[in-house]
Amino acid sequence: MCGIVGYVGGREAAEVILDGLARLEYRGYDSAGIVVADAAPGARLDAVKRAGKLDALRSALQGSPLSGHLGLGHTRWATHGRPNDANAHPHLSEDARLAVIHNGIIENYLELKDRLQAGGHHFASETDTEVLVHLIEDHYQAAAELGRARERLVRAVRGALTEVRGAFALVVAHADHDVIVAARATSPLVIGLGEGENLLASDVPALLPYTREVVFLEDGDLAVLSRDGVEVTGFDGAPRRRDATTIDWDAEAAEKGGFDHYMLKEIYEQPVVLQNTLFGRFAGNGLDVRLELELDPRAIDRVVVTAAGTAFYAGQVGEVLIERLARLPVEVEVASEFRYRRPVVDERTLCVVVSQSGETIDTLEALREARRRGARTLAILNVKGSSISREVDDVLYIHAGPEIGVASTKAYTAMLAAFELLALYLGRGRGTLPDALAAELLQGLRELPQQVQEAIDRRASVAEVAERFKERRDYLFLGRGVNVPTAFEGALKLKEISYIHAEAYATGEMKHGPIALIDRSMPVVAVATASELYDKTVSNLQEVRAREGTVIALASDGDDGIRRHADEVLYVPAVHELLSPIVNVVPLQLLAYETALRLGRDVDRPRNLAKSVTVE
Ligand code: F6R
Repeated sequence: MCGIVGYVGGREAAEVILDGLARLEYRGYDSAGIVVADAAPGARLDAVKRAGKLDALRSALQGSPLSGHLGLGHTRWATHGRPNDANAHPHLSEDARLAVIHNGIIENYLELKDRLQAGGHHFASETDTEVLVHLIEDHYQAAAELGRARERLVRAVRGALTEVRGAFALVVAHADHDVIVAARATSPLVIGLGEGENLLASDVPALLPYTREVVFLEDGDLAVLSRDGVEVTGFDGAPRRRDATTIDWDAEAAEKGGFDHYMLKEIYEQPVVLQNTLFGRFAGNGLDVRLELELDPRAIDRVVVTAAGTAFYAGQVGEVLIERLARLPVEVEVASEFRYRRPVVDERTLCVVVSQSGETIDTLEALREARRRGARTLAILNVKGSSISREVDDVLYIHAGPEIGVASTKAYTAMLAAFELLALYLGRGRGTLPDALAAELLQGLRELPQQVQEAIDRRASVAEVAERFKERRDYLFLGRGVNVPTAFEGALKLKEISYIHAEAYATGEMKHGPIALIDRSMPVVAVATASELYDKTVSNLQEVRAREGTVIALASDGDDGIRRHADEVLYVPAVHELLSPIVNVVPLQLLAYETALRLGRDVDRPRNLAKSVTVE
């Protein structure tokens, strides 16, 4: 959601913060703000806040730059209150000596606000965050006997934390103190350790130009950062030991590397990402995979998969793979529902959660629910050190590197690859996957990065289709079997970044209702690659054409016959049906990208969306 950056050290804080915010802008971006301090006794804090993208804040700062060596910055994704200047963070106390930025939600803010207003506090915004400022201010006044001692601010933050409920990350600075105080209750915060400087952010990319040594805060941690050190305690003040992690990707990996958009760069990264996900996990015998999991495949009777958005569609592909290869019953459910439906799971149920960020609150809470009910848990994850990684029994990392584009691409294909590995692992471990099929799939996986590269290399033909249909207002996506989720993911990509209405159905479902929508104006994108159900798919395409619908077919190389049933054909390399979702999604990602580009959309920062959804 929101982006957070804090800095204390020898540099001009404003420069570090603006740079960091730019690297986090993908997290949420309807307004931005910054506050800078120099711990001068009696001074007021200087804050500048602007609605809109970071450029609006940058322009405001050009006229009156802020100077100081300690500061906080924030990009906001509105939850409480409209995205305007007043609601942007930081929020300052009435004497402008205390500043707070925050990500997440304070659930009991209304009752706290009533009490604070009754006590004489004046509010300048509609946000829940501002409650924190006034609350900390009260606790700060109550600790007046500590004067300018650093402990006074820490005690004030701790005191406020005992009164608030919710899932959040909170960062505080005060004009009288040369420290930043930060607290984590569910929303992510990571500290960057420098020489004579320390930083903090809601995500690693903001820190990478300055350091690769980071400390991930955990729920209930309170950190005090000064230029010379970082101290971590619990909210109660008891010391907590947090080891540093070295980040093995650099700042450049988190930047665009010559591409016009992160999304395009990430689409092009997929062959390498697939190598990272897959290679190194094949056993030498050509029949097995080596995953470092505690999980005993024979100790489970059932699998439930839960996730959100694109990760959920990856889970649906996983369902087919695990059922087919491991002969285990699988159910897939969106995490926002799973967590509330009192799911029936036990110690012989494997609950698989899937998440790029590892911070999606619905998925995290679904995991917690599954654990409470005694399920064994496994996460398919990208971000190391993320909240989910710390609470799950086993992790299968997808090694996709930082995904910055809001519309997920490389994480999706890497999640699919991880599910291929998991299904093979379960199938071999349970004795349900014969050698011949295992060998065929493993060989297919080895060839996959190259085939995905070939699918990407055909971008020009996808661009022609995008050009032809860019003005259409509605799209239908169809797929069968293991490619039902491919259709859903294709529709999601298109609507997310081009704002074209797109629906997806299992191809066989079309005749049960959606067929009523078919006319000349609605393109139907149909996954018609080689499969057991190919002939049935072709019959369904004829039904579309009989109603003057326009068919854009996704077909396997060598399938010339498909041309008789389609207006446009996008060819992809022919692969094993069970591997095909990984190749098939590529032209659909490109179709969304090329269409959005032609419609002048902000591809990397589509409206209303945020990269990491840490509110319910
Ligand atoms: C779509 C997209 C979202 C995410 C969803 C889950 O392009 O990115 O639908 O897939 O918000 O996010 P993670 O995987 O971080 O849990």
